[in-house]
This record gives sequence, C-alpha cells and structure tokens, in this order.
Amino acid sequence: THVLVLAGGLSYERDVSLRSGRRALDALRALGLSAELSDADVALLPTLREDPPDAVVIALHGATGEDGSLRGVLDLCGIPYVGCDARAARLAWDKPTAKAMLREAGIPTPDWVALPHDRFSELGAVAVLDRIAERLGLPLMVKPAQGGSGLGAAVVREAAALPAAMVGCFAYDSTALVERFVPGTDVAVSVVDLGNGPEALPPVEIVPRDGVYDYAARYTAGLTTWHTPARLAPPVATAVADTALAAHRALGMRDLSRVDLIVDGEGKPHVLGVNVSPGMTETSLLPLAVQAAGLDLGKVLADLVGRAVV
Ligand code: DAL
Repeated sequence: THVLVLAGGLSYERDVSLRSGRRALDALRALGLSAELSDADVALLPTLREDPPDAVVIALHGATGEDGSLRGVLDLCGIPYVGCDARAARLAWDKPTAKAMLREAGIPTPDWVALPHDRFSELGAVAVLDRIAERLGLPLMVKPAQGGSGLGAAVVREAAALPAAMVGCFAYDSTALVERFVPGTDVAVSVVDLGNGPEALPPVEIVPRDGVYDYAARYTAGLTTWHTPARLAPPVATAVADTALAAHRALGMRDLSRVDLIVDGEGKPHVLGVNVSPGMTETSLLPLAVQAAGLDLGKVLADLVGRAVV
C-alpha cells in the first residue's frame, strides 16, 4: 500500500502541520509501510493524477486541510483518505456552524455570538462590544470563526480588553466567534474508530503553565503539563467520554477526531469544538491519548488507512 501523508499547505498552521506530518510518516514507516510526505501545494495536483497513492493521511491543519477543500479534490480524483468527508469537514471547521449543530443535537457548548468584521465596523465597535458583553457576560473568549492552534484567540476578562482582542482575531479571519468563557478544566478527548464504531480514548487534561493554552503553550516543550487520563471523578469521566462521542457523531466525523471540552465546577462537560485533523506533533494531544490507551500511533493510522482503501 502506497500512502501519501499530506502536510504543510499555506495555512497559519503550516509549521504545526509539517511536524504532525513527519510524525505520522515516521510512525507509518516504522511499520514498514511505503509512505511519503508531500506538501499540499499546486504541485500536488499532477501527482494525484499521474501517480495516485492508494490512500492519503491528511496531516494538514487550518484552511484547505481542515475546511474540506482538499478532501473535495481527493474525492474528485477517487483517492481514499483517512478522516471525515469534505462536507463534514466544512461544517465542523466553521466554529459557529459546528456550535449550532452541537446545540441542535442537545450537546452543551458555551453561548456565543458570531461577528463578521463588516458588521463590527458598521455598528461601531463600542456599541457592538457593549451589546456582546451584556448578552454573554464576562469573561469572554474571542477566537477566529475558522482557525486552530489558539492563533488569534484571547481571553477577555474586562470590557476594555475586548477591542484589542477583536483586532487580534480579525487578523486571522473576517468573522470572530465571541464565546462565554466557562471556567473549569480543559480536557481533550480523541475519538478513533478501529472497526467497531467510534471509541473515546483516555481524556487528556491540559494544564498550561501560564494559565493560557495559546500557540506557545501548545508547541513549546515544558510550557504545558498533561494528565492522562484526566483527573476526573469516574462519573464525570464517563460524561466527558459520552459527550465527546456524541459530538463526534453529531458533526459527522469519521475514523478519528479530537473533541475539546471544558469541564465546569459541577462536573458538566461543554464542547468547545471538534478537530477534523487533530495535531500529531510531539506536544499534541491525540498521540498522548493513543499512547495512554496502550495503542501505537502508526498501527492506528495503518488500520485507518487499510479500511480507507477498502
Ligand atoms: N489545530 C491543531 C493542529 C490541533 O487542534 O491539534
């Protein structure tokens, strides 16, 4: 089986993706699989036609990798890939859309407002921000509607900090997601389907050294401590796993995903988002969960590749 690992691309998460891609490549090659890594640039298109792989592992993060466009190209070429289809990726990648789908499915997600930049300018920043702060309360979480790795995201604890947070966010996307900040424990649940339906792997608890799980805390060794499995009471751990599986299903995920949640002071999980192409770097959460489950990353990927090819 000839496997192509796609990584890089042109998104803000290019560097992260290259690290994920190399890790996936090494894990597959360690099992003796014929795998190679390719950047997802325009040169990829003739390769897909002239020398099509048997299957693709998408280690791309951010736009084109996670928003479904590349999956659409692979569909067009008839090349199987690991992970959800183009439509599910497109919906899950857009945070306001994903949150509306979660809420529709009865899965808790913090209250939010999606704010396009045009509307922000048209109504006047102060009026808009006052209205949002009044509706959602403080603190708030501001994030690009589409994006990952904490880029352009900020916690806003006082109204005066909101304009700067919005500007930082609009640098990454033309729509901001402003979300009620739920205090609690950050937990990530990786979900994999190894042939018996989706399974929740052990939850990973995330404790950033400086209190904020931003880009540096995610990708700099030593800036975040993980507890795997998360330090949750057994009934809470069950609720977290069930909520993650419900979110995976509600968003039409396939093969693997990672569900990010906050567990509030009462032990109730709130879903923040679902990653269709979870990071696989040395400091990423899915590989930690795979290891905690007693599995091998290469074998998990190879299994998913095997079933994608069929
Ligand atoms: N967006 C990064 C890669 C992650 O969620 O792991």
